[in-house]
Amino acid sequence: MWKMHFSVSDHVTWVGKTDWELQTFHGEELSTFKGSTYNAYLIQDEKTALVDTVWTPFARQFVEDLKETIDLDEIDYVVALHAEPDHSGGLIELMREIPDVPIYCTSMAARFLRAQYHQDWNFVEVKTGDTLSLGKQELVFVEAKMLHWPDNLLAYLTGDQILFSSDAFGQHYSSEVLFNDLVDQGELYREALKYYANILTPFSKMVARKIDEVLEMELPLKMICPSHGVIWREDPAQIIETYARWADDYQEDQVAIVYDTMWDSTGRMAAMISDGIRAVDPTLTIKHLHTAKRDKNDIIAEVFRSKAILVGSSTVNRGVLSSISAILSLIEEMGFKKKKASAFGSYGWSGEAPGLIRETLEDAGFEILIPELREAWTPDAEGRDRCRTFGRDFARQL
Ligand code: FEO
Repeated sequence: MWKMHFSVSDHVTWVGKTDWELQTFHGEELSTFKGSTYNAYLIQDEKTALVDTVWTPFARQFVEDLKETIDLDEIDYVVALHAEPDHSGGLIELMREIPDVPIYCTSMAARFLRAQYHQDWNFVEVKTGDTLSLGKQELVFVEAKMLHWPDNLLAYLTGDQILFSSDAFGQHYSSEVLFNDLVDQGELYREALKYYANILTPFSKMVARKIDEVLEMELPLKMICPSHGVIWREDPAQIIETYARWADDYQEDQVAIVYDTMWDSTGRMAAMISDGIRAVDPTLTIKHLHTAKRDKNDIIAEVFRSKAILVGSSTVNRGVLSSISAILSLIEEMGFKKKKASAFGSYGWSGEAPGLIRETLEDAGFEILIPELREAWTPDAEGRDRCRTFGRDFARQL
């Protein structure tokens, strides 16, 4: 079912695609339980510019729908804020109809678009500070390298005072009403955070620098139009302020216990450790995250929110369980900073898992608060006490 185009401001129309059914993104890498949107925007002044397109499977429908809103020959400029196929996937269909229209983008985006589509389009490469006049107003470009690809570009529309922010400030969140003030605020916050935690965390330093740079420009801002999810029209500064917090080694008063277990011995350890933590600080939020049963991206979002994590695994074949191996790999990729950790796990005879987890967490930049805890077989009363003590010792170091 296609969402109708709708007016965003005096000169801007949303011409994107709402993908209600999307469950994974980046192949199977990222869960998108609330679907997503591929936001494209038509700016109509004395000149007309199209900002971005949609993902490849929706390309034909995108162009057909666009024709219902505008004669394609009236499009003077295409602006490609980002070369990733969820926004550039409609270009082949579109440019077949308007092959000579210039495509404004960064030099990196031109390179990436050529490499993906092998077309000789009329690229106009732009840098920070370059402008494109549309008549009464203009687009001001700001490069946004590594938010989250090397090619990302922001564009600010002077008259309507709108920032087209590409992937920054987006969410994989489909909704009938694509304005921030009209959707469930809890859902919106969760999806924006999950998006940041899983996509932007590795680039937090660059996010912080870019936010400072944009704020120093003192652009009056009525709206932020990202390339996924809702348009921030009510208090758009709120998501900039939130990003500034998230980019600053964000953490809440939360501990995540991330574990997998074969015969529930490590699972019981997790419960007893949690008891110990609560005995020291009943106000701490503790999340129990079974890695084989919970979504990996939701786990990353909880690790992002946590000031400390405890990772536990049974020992199998002298290593860790496969779901723990997978989540540790993701955690390492994220490059979290200023978080604390320790490891635990049960074993039958060799018991390597907790030590391997601790080494991986150390390599990933976590501060190891206390030595790992290993329990042989099923913890008995003494073993359960050791787990509670471990939890208490860990909590006291936080
Ligand atoms: Fe939404 Fe990086 O593409």
